[in-house]
Amino acid sequence: MKNDLILRAVRGEKTERVPVWLMRQAGRILPGYRKIRESVKDFQELVKTPELACAATLEPVDILGVDAAIIFSDILVVPEAMGLDYQMLESRGPIFEKTIQTEKDIDAIRVGSTENWTYLLDAIKLTRKELNDRVPLIGFAGSPWTIFAYMTEGKGSKTFSIAKRMLYSEPEMAHKLLDKITQTTIKYLKDQVAAGAQIVQLFDSWGGILSPESYEEFSLPYIAKICNELSPLVPVIAFPKGAFFSAKAIAKLNCAAICLDWTVDPKEARQLLPGKTLQGNLDPCVLYAKPSVIKSKTYKMLDQFGTQNYIANLGHGVYPDIPMENVKHFIDCVKQYPQA
Ligand code: CP3
Repeated sequence: MKNDLILRAVRGEKTERVPVWLMRQAGRILPGYRKIRESVKDFQELVKTPELACAATLEPVDILGVDAAIIFSDILVVPEAMGLDYQMLESRGPIFEKTIQTEKDIDAIRVGSTENWTYLLDAIKLTRKELNDRVPLIGFAGSPWTIFAYMTEGKGSKTFSIAKRMLYSEPEMAHKLLDKITQTTIKYLKDQVAAGAQIVQLFDSWGGILSPESYEEFSLPYIAKICNELSPLVPVIAFPKGAFFSAKAIAKLNCAAICLDWTVDPKEARQLLPGKTLQGNLDPCVLYAKPSVIKSKTYKMLDQFGTQNYIANLGHGVYPDIPMENVKHFIDCVKQYPQA
C-alpha cells in the first residue's frame, strides 16, 4: 500500500501527517461525476455498472488528492436487495414504491444475499485493481435504524414520525424488522470485505432524531452487532450522526473509530471516547467561506483533535453546491498543517 495513512490512523498507529477524505466525495461537486450521471438513465444504472461506479470512485482520488477512496454506491442498495425498489428523483432524493407498515410486509421482504449485490462486489474488485494500492478502499452501509427509517417512511422526512411511531406502538415488530436488516447488512459488509474493502463505515444518518433511550434500544444494539461481526475482519468506523448524547454507550462499541458530526466538541469527544480513533468534523458549510476562513477553521479543528488517532473529514457529506476549489483547499490545508 503506497499511502496507508488512514489504515494506520484507524488502527491507532503513528502517522507523520493527518489523513483526510470526505464523506460523499464522489458526487455532484466533481465534473467527471456530473458527466457520468448525465450519460445514464438513472442513479441505479450508475450504481449497478461496475465500470461507471469504479470511475466515480477514482475521480476524487485523482483530482482531490484524498487519502482514501469510498466505493461509489448508496446505503439504499440494502433495502433494494431486500425487495423494496426505489427511485432517485432529481434534487428530491429517494422514493420507495412500497413501504413497510405491517408484520406481513416484514415477512414479505427477504434477508438479502450475495446474488442481490454482485454488481457492487464487481465494482469493488475492479476499483481495487485500478487503485493499485494507491490508497485504501472504504466500503459502507447504512445503520439498521437509518435503513428502517427509509423502509417505513418511503422517503426522507423532517420528523420521521412514521418510523418513530412504529418504535413506540409496535416495538416488537420494529425489532423484527431491524433484525432482518441487520442480518442483511452483516452479509453485505462481509461480502464487501471479501471483495476487497479495507475499512467499512456505518452511516447512522438518522440516529440523532431518536431520544437517548430509543437510540440505545433501537439503533445502537444493532450497530454493535455489526461491529462485533466485522471488527475481526477490518477496521470499522461508526458514524452516529447527531447521537453524541449517547457518547458513553457509543464508547463501548467494538469498533476502531467514531466519526463525529460538527455539533460535537473535539476535546469532549477525546474525553468521552477514550481509545478510539476519531474522524470528522468540520461543518460542511465552512467550505462555502473564503480560503482564509477555511484554513483557520481547519487548523483550529486539527489543534483540538491533535494529529494522532485522527482522520480529518467533514461532519457530514459534502454538499453538492460547494465549489470544488474550496474542497480541494480544505484537503490541502490538512496536508499542509505543520506537524511536530
Ligand atoms: O461518499 C461517497 O462519495 C460514496 C457514495 C455515497 C452516496 N451516498 C452516493 C450518492 C455514500 C457513502 C452515500 C451514503 C448515503 N446515501 C447516506 C448516508 C450519508 C448521509 O448523507 O447522511 C444517505 C442518508 C443516503 C441516501 C441518499 N442518497 C439520499 C437522501 C440521496 C439524495 C440526496 C442527496 O444527498 O443527493 C442520495 C443520492 C446520492 N447518493 C447521490 C450520490 C452521489 C446524488 C444522486 C444523484 O447524483 O442524482
